[in-house]
Amino acid sequence: MIRSVSHISAMSPYALAQLNAPEGKRLISLSQNESLHPPSPLAVEAGAKALKAGHLYPDPDWGELREALSGLHGIPAESILCGNGSMELIACLAQAFADEQNAVLAPAHAYPFFRTAAQMVQARFDVAPESDGRVSVDALLTAVRPDTRIVFVANPGNPTGTRIPRAKLVRLREGLPGDTLLVIDEAYGEFADYLGEPMFDLVGRGDTVVLRTFSKAYGLAGMRVGWGLFPPEIARELRKVMSPNNISAAGQAAATAALKDQAYMVATCRETAMLREGFRTRLQQAGYDVPKSSTNFVLIRMGSPDKAHRADEALRAEGVFLRPQGGAGLADCLRATIGAADDLDIAAGRLERRAKEEKT
Ligand SMILES: Cc1ncc(COP(=O)(O)O)c(C=O)c1O
Repeated sequence: MIRSVSHISAMSPYALAQLNAPEGKRLISLSQNESLHPPSPLAVEAGAKALKAGHLYPDPDWGELREALSGLHGIPAESILCGNGSMELIACLAQAFADEQNAVLAPAHAYPFFRTAAQMVQARFDVAPESDGRVSVDALLTAVRPDTRIVFVANPGNPTGTRIPRAKLVRLREGLPGDTLLVIDEAYGEFADYLGEPMFDLVGRGDTVVLRTFSKAYGLAGMRVGWGLFPPEIARELRKVMSPNNISAAGQAAATAALKDQAYMVATCRETAMLREGFRTRLQQAGYDVPKSSTNFVLIRMGSPDKAHRADEALRAEGVFLRPQGGAGLADCLRATIGAADDLDIAAGRLERRAKEEKT
């Protein structure tokens, strides 16, 4: 029998969305925080054009994409690395900077892939309590141990949807030891960019990384393009463990073109926020606790793990897929992505009906 190494066989596979609609039902997937719209027509055209040269390897240095990101955000192109989704960058950061002799720290209800990344390299995974779905800087600082190598924080957070103001993140960075890497994962950053609180300047300290992705606001989840801003020494080490030629030529071209259509991306974010608030209001009126969100999803507190489980099963039976949150330590919650208006309407209707049934 061929066995995997012990820490891999001890791991559970990463929980992917289950999207098998019952026979005869239309699949309504509000489960993966994808954009409610396809990518910008500019991105579609550029991606299709790049496919014509699909017999060639892609640019291993993501030259045009880095230049475009540099121009848009006013950051140095040479400090940008692009990943096969930001998941690749998260996994590689753990691989390069943590191991079985040290620890990775994150808030208690953080994006579950932070834990997976730590497990893959046998690092201890510590969590700091959150207060009411909000990251607590004090709790994170208290949870730091002498062997804490990386602190991962998503801002805004998934699945909580809540946002940490810049001043608090600066306080976190200043309170962490200089040899602890802070990774600020801004996968949903574009949805909060209107607040004007960029974090890229912290990277200049040499101990902080900021990650972003094209999977959410830019609607390119299927192209797998993430990126980040890295201090030079961190970038040098990270590249050693990243897969060469990691992003397809079509993905790079589509992402570069998407950046040129800021109006499209901003309009998507605005529409998402408008639909989100309408959905949230409906659910609140039905009696659900739905915390304020700064993202393209909302967290719905269902009252108990049992109620969440039963609601999830009932919705799935009708083809409506939300995402259970037991993996993030919130078994009493379901997360709903802000999808197309029609789909949200159906999901809200089903949840309203359930709320009434639960009362009777
Ligand atoms: C907080 C957070 N970080 C990273 C990712 C991964 O994104 P990508 O598609 O770029 O790998 C997600 C995806 O849902 C996310 O929610």
